[in-house]
Amino acid sequence: MREVATRINVPFLDLSEQHRRIAPAIKAAIDEVISRSQFILGPAVEQFEKAFAEYNGVDHCVALNNGTTALQLALHACDIGPGDEVITTPHTWISTTWAISYVGAKPVYVDIDPESYNMDPKLVQQAITPRTKRFCRSIYMGRHASWLRSSRLPIKMASF
Ligand SMILES: Cc1ncc(COP(=O)(O)O)c(C=O)c1O
Repeated sequence: MREVATRINVPFLDLSEQHRRIAPAIKAAIDEVISRSQFILGPAVEQFEKAFAEYNGVDHCVALNNGTTALQLALHACDIGPGDEVITTPHTWISTTWAISYVGAKPVYVDIDPESYNMDPKLVQQAITPRTKRFCRSIYMGRHASWLRSSRLPIKMASF
Protein backbone atom coordinates (compact mmCIF):
# COMPACT_ATOMS: atom_id res chain seq x y z
CA MET A 1 0.00 0.00 0.00
CA ARG A 2 1.25 3.46 -0.88
CA GLU A 3 1.41 6.08 1.87
CA VAL A 4 0.47 9.63 0.95
CA ALA A 5 2.03 12.33 3.06
CA THR A 6 -0.28 15.25 3.62
CA ARG A 7 1.16 18.52 4.71
CA ILE A 8 -1.17 20.70 6.76
CA ASN A 9 -0.23 24.25 7.49
CA VAL A 10 -1.62 25.30 10.87
CA PRO A 11 -1.02 29.01 11.47
CA PHE A 12 0.44 29.84 14.88
CA LEU A 13 -1.90 32.81 15.27
CA ASP A 14 -4.57 33.86 12.80
CA LEU A 15 -5.76 37.31 13.83
CA SER A 16 -7.46 37.88 10.48
CA GLU A 17 -9.96 35.07 11.26
CA GLN A 18 -10.91 36.80 14.51
CA HIS A 19 -11.24 40.11 12.63
CA ARG A 20 -13.40 38.66 9.84
CA ARG A 21 -16.25 37.97 12.29
CA ILE A 22 -16.42 41.55 13.60
CA ALA A 23 -15.13 43.43 10.56
CA PRO A 24 -18.42 45.21 9.62
CA ALA A 25 -18.85 46.67 13.14
CA ILE A 26 -15.22 47.81 13.25
CA LYS A 27 -15.45 49.37 9.79
CA ALA A 28 -18.65 51.25 10.72
CA ALA A 29 -17.07 52.60 13.91
CA ILE A 30 -13.93 53.76 12.08
CA ASP A 31 -16.03 55.37 9.30
CA GLU A 32 -18.00 57.27 11.97
CA VAL A 33 -14.80 58.67 13.57
CA ILE A 34 -13.37 59.65 10.17
CA SER A 35 -16.57 61.35 9.04
CA ARG A 36 -16.64 63.39 12.27
CA SER A 37 -12.87 63.99 11.93
CA GLN A 38 -12.57 64.18 15.70
CA PHE A 39 -9.50 62.08 16.32
CA ILE A 40 -8.66 63.17 19.88
CA LEU A 41 -11.11 62.31 22.69
CA GLY A 42 -14.69 63.01 21.55
CA PRO A 43 -17.83 60.86 21.63
CA ALA A 44 -16.18 57.63 20.42
CA VAL A 45 -13.73 57.66 23.34
CA GLU A 46 -16.48 58.56 25.83
CA GLN A 47 -18.63 55.73 24.51
CA PHE A 48 -15.73 53.27 24.74
CA GLU A 49 -14.85 54.30 28.32
CA LYS A 50 -18.46 53.90 29.43
CA ALA A 51 -18.89 50.51 27.72
CA PHE A 52 -15.55 49.19 29.01
CA ALA A 53 -16.31 50.31 32.58
CA GLU A 54 -19.69 48.56 32.39
CA TYR A 55 -18.10 45.40 30.95
CA ASN A 56 -15.64 45.30 33.86
CA GLY A 57 -18.25 46.18 36.49
CA VAL A 58 -16.42 49.34 37.60
CA ASP A 59 -17.49 52.99 37.89
CA HIS A 60 -14.86 54.53 35.59
CA CYS A 61 -12.51 53.71 32.77
CA VAL A 62 -9.82 55.98 31.29
CA ALA A 63 -8.79 55.25 27.72
CA LEU A 64 -5.09 55.78 27.02
CA ASN A 65 -3.00 56.12 23.89
CA ASN A 66 -1.25 52.76 24.28
CA GLY A 67 -0.26 49.90 26.56
CA THR A 68 3.06 51.45 27.58
CA THR A 69 1.27 54.48 29.04
CA ALA A 70 -1.14 52.14 30.84
CA LEU A 71 1.81 50.38 32.50
CA GLN A 72 3.36 53.74 33.44
CA LEU A 73 0.09 54.99 34.93
CA ALA A 74 -0.30 51.79 36.96
CA LEU A 75 3.19 52.27 38.40
CA HIS A 76 2.36 55.88 39.31
CA ALA A 77 -0.82 54.62 40.98
CA CYS A 78 1.36 52.27 43.07
CA ASP A 79 3.38 55.35 44.12
CA ILE A 80 6.56 54.10 42.49
CA GLY A 81 9.23 56.66 41.64
CA PRO A 82 12.93 57.57 41.84
CA GLY A 83 14.94 55.40 44.23
CA ASP A 84 12.50 52.49 43.99
CA GLU A 85 13.24 49.12 42.45
CA VAL A 86 10.75 47.06 40.46
CA ILE A 87 11.55 43.41 39.80
CA THR A 88 10.66 42.29 36.31
CA THR A 89 11.59 40.08 33.39
CA PRO A 90 13.58 40.91 30.28
CA HIS A 91 11.71 38.13 28.44
CA THR A 92 8.91 40.32 27.18
CA TRP A 93 8.29 43.42 25.11
CA ILE A 94 10.43 46.36 26.28
CA SER A 95 7.38 48.39 27.42
CA THR A 96 7.59 46.85 30.89
CA THR A 97 11.14 48.18 31.32
CA TRP A 98 10.26 51.49 29.66
CA ALA A 99 7.34 52.06 32.06
CA ILE A 100 9.54 51.36 35.10
CA SER A 101 12.22 53.78 33.88
CA TYR A 102 9.65 56.43 32.83
CA VAL A 103 8.56 56.77 36.49
CA GLY A 104 12.23 57.08 37.51
CA ALA A 105 12.49 53.63 39.15
CA LYS A 106 15.11 50.96 38.49
CA PRO A 107 14.16 47.73 36.69
CA VAL A 108 15.73 44.69 38.37
CA TYR A 109 15.71 41.64 36.12
CA VAL A 110 15.30 38.05 37.17
CA ASP A 111 15.64 35.05 34.90
CA ILE A 112 12.76 32.96 33.61
CA ASP A 113 11.64 29.49 34.58
CA PRO A 114 12.51 27.16 31.66
CA GLU A 115 9.14 25.36 31.86
CA SER A 116 6.76 28.32 31.77
CA TYR A 117 9.06 30.99 30.31
CA ASN A 118 7.65 33.32 33.00
CA MET A 119 9.69 35.00 35.75
CA ASP A 120 10.93 32.41 38.20
CA PRO A 121 9.23 33.16 41.57
CA LYS A 122 12.22 31.74 43.48
CA LEU A 123 14.50 34.28 41.80
CA VAL A 124 12.04 37.09 42.50
CA GLN A 125 12.34 36.24 46.17
CA GLN A 126 16.15 36.50 45.97
CA ALA A 127 16.07 39.84 44.14
CA ILE A 128 14.08 41.65 46.84
CA THR A 129 16.01 44.49 48.53
CA PRO A 130 14.87 47.23 50.94
CA ARG A 131 14.27 49.40 47.84
CA THR A 132 11.92 46.91 46.14
CA LYS A 133 8.45 48.40 45.76
CA ARG A 134 6.71 45.89 43.50
CA PHE A 135 7.30 43.14 41.00
CA CYS A 136 5.97 43.47 37.52
CA ARG A 137 5.48 40.24 35.63
CA SER A 138 4.54 39.66 32.06
CA ILE A 139 2.55 36.57 31.25
CA TYR A 140 4.23 34.65 28.46
CA MET A 141 1.84 33.13 25.94
CA GLY A 142 -0.91 32.84 28.58
CA ARG A 143 1.15 30.36 30.63
CA HIS A 144 0.50 31.82 34.07
CA ALA A 145 -1.40 29.17 36.05
CA SER A 146 1.59 27.35 37.52
CA TRP A 147 3.25 30.67 38.30
CA LEU A 148 0.27 31.82 40.33
CA ARG A 149 0.19 28.55 42.25
CA SER A 150 3.88 28.58 43.04
CA SER A 151 4.32 32.19 44.08
CA ARG A 152 3.90 33.30 47.67
CA LEU A 153 5.92 36.46 47.55
CA PRO A 154 6.31 38.99 50.38
CA ILE A 155 5.95 41.93 47.97
CA LYS A 156 2.95 43.01 45.93
CA MET A 157 2.54 42.80 42.20
CA ALA A 158 2.11 46.11 40.37
CA SER A 159 -1.65 46.10 39.83
CA PHE A 160 -2.16 45.56 36.12
C1 LIG B 1 4.02 42.52 26.91
C2 LIG B 1 3.67 43.87 26.36
N1 LIG B 1 3.51 44.90 27.22
C3 LIG B 1 3.20 46.13 26.75
C4 LIG B 1 3.04 46.38 25.41
C5 LIG B 1 2.74 47.80 25.03
O1 LIG B 1 2.10 48.05 23.92
P1 LIG B 1 1.92 49.45 23.20
O2 LIG B 1 2.60 49.26 21.89
O3 LIG B 1 0.43 49.59 23.07
O4 LIG B 1 2.53 50.54 24.01
C6 LIG B 1 3.21 45.34 24.48
C7 LIG B 1 3.08 45.54 23.04
O5 LIG B 1 3.38 44.70 22.22
C8 LIG B 1 3.53 44.05 24.98
O6 LIG B 1 3.72 43.01 24.15
